[in-house]
Amino acid sequence: SVDKGPKGKGHPINPSIRKECPKVVDVLDVEDLNKEKVSYCRCWKSKKFPLCDGSHNAHNEETGDNVGPVVIRKKIN
Ligand code: FES
Repeated sequence: SVDKGPKGKGHPINPSIRKECPKVVDVLDVEDLNKEKVSYCRCWKSKKFPLCDGSHNAHNEETGDNVGPVVIRKKIN
């Protein structure tokens, strides 16, 4: 049988981040990007969510998954 989430609708992707919120949304202003490169988590395991902290590596090793961050780059002229 399928592992049910708290609402009984199926297995949740998000194990622990802001579970009190009905939907986890992060709005980013591109103008505020002050580094050349920023990585955002897509595995929902990062302790620095929404930023990637490399936790996807352990997740991938444990599960055989292949997830990784989305990397936003800024062209600095
Ligand atoms: Fe989640 Fe890197 S920690 S994608």
